Amino acid sequence: MIILRDIVKTFGAVRALDGLDLEVRDGQIHGFIGPNGAGKTTAIRIMLGLIKANSGQASIFGQDAFKEAVRIHRRIAYVPGEVSLWPNLTGGEVIDLMLSLNGVKQDDLKDELIEVFDFDPGKKCRTYSKGNRQKVALIAAFASDPELYILDEPTSGLDPLMVAAFQDRVLQEKAAGKTVLLSSHILSEVEQLCDYISIIRQGKIIDAGTLAELRHLTYTDITVETKEPLGASLEQYPQILNFESDGNNVHFSVPGDILGDVIAIISKKGIIKLESMPPTLEKLFIGHYGKDSADGHGS
Ligand SMILES: Nc1ncnc2c1ncn2[C@@H]1O[C@H](COP(=O)(O)OP(=O)(O)O)[C@@H](O)[C@H]1O
Ligand SMILES: [Mg+2]
Repeated sequence: MIILRDIVKTFGAVRALDGLDLEVRDGQIHGFIGPNGAGKTTAIRIMLGLIKANSGQASIFGQDAFKEAVRIHRRIAYVPGEVSLWPNLTGGEVIDLMLSLNGVKQDDLKDELIEVFDFDPGKKCRTYSKGNRQKVALIAAFASDPELYILDEPTSGLDPLMVAAFQDRVLQEKAAGKTVLLSSHILSEVEQLCDYISIIRQGKIIDAGTLAELRHLTYTDITVETKEPLGASLEQYPQILNFESDGNNVHFSVPGDILGDVIAIISKKGIIKLESMPPTLEKLFIGHYGKDSADGHGS
């Protein structure tokens, strides 16, 4: 559905994209994740034909993303991370305007979405919070029933209930055979949704795969108190990082592919208290690609 090949994009001295390759397949929910400034928005603006790359190829539906932008846009919905709206129109008017610009008439679906996102369409846009502006773009996108969604950090500013509503909706779209490119700098937000993840850092894809394939990269922080001391029982796992022990209280970071085995060993020692922190993108980079990592990956 989307192919970017060896894209380079510079802004003056800044090399925002440095030979980016990305391929989004039909029916995928594709997570596009990386820290702020990694180049996600720039890549998305290139695939939308909004800006031109210095070099490389970009296509959507097999058509040139820049030359065929108008034709391509009829079949996609785009939600930016910062939505700006006409201040004097109401939210409902903007949604109708966005849909009519796309030649869409989907009143039932629109009304359903307004309910799903608990949105008040009667107020002037200038009074909306960031979250409400985000809802306008999301409702217009989902109501336009496109083949392909390109969503650039679409949940920024939404409260957790609305993030859940968004995630539900994305899964429904997937079930209906739609394709979604979803960018985020928050790993935990995309991992429940995506069947494939591309990780961008400094304008390049540094890893890509299914979540199962990337499991060894995602570290969970564990703090545990056991009846018996753990002793040397975890020494067989050199993959465990940041191990600190204070008698029967132990703290460490464990990669996802051995999490189950490690918990099984700990539980034999009698768990009194267990806390876990889900993997974060930051940790992923520190664990595998950080300046201090000796494995020669990435940087
Ligand atoms: N219009 C622009 N002019 C100058 N620099 C830009 C512009 N847009 C993006 N950049 C720079 O390109 C890099 C990538 O930015 P961006 O694509 O917005 O990253 P992300 O969306 O992953 O946070 C950053 O260093 C950013 O400062
Ligand atoms: Mg961005």
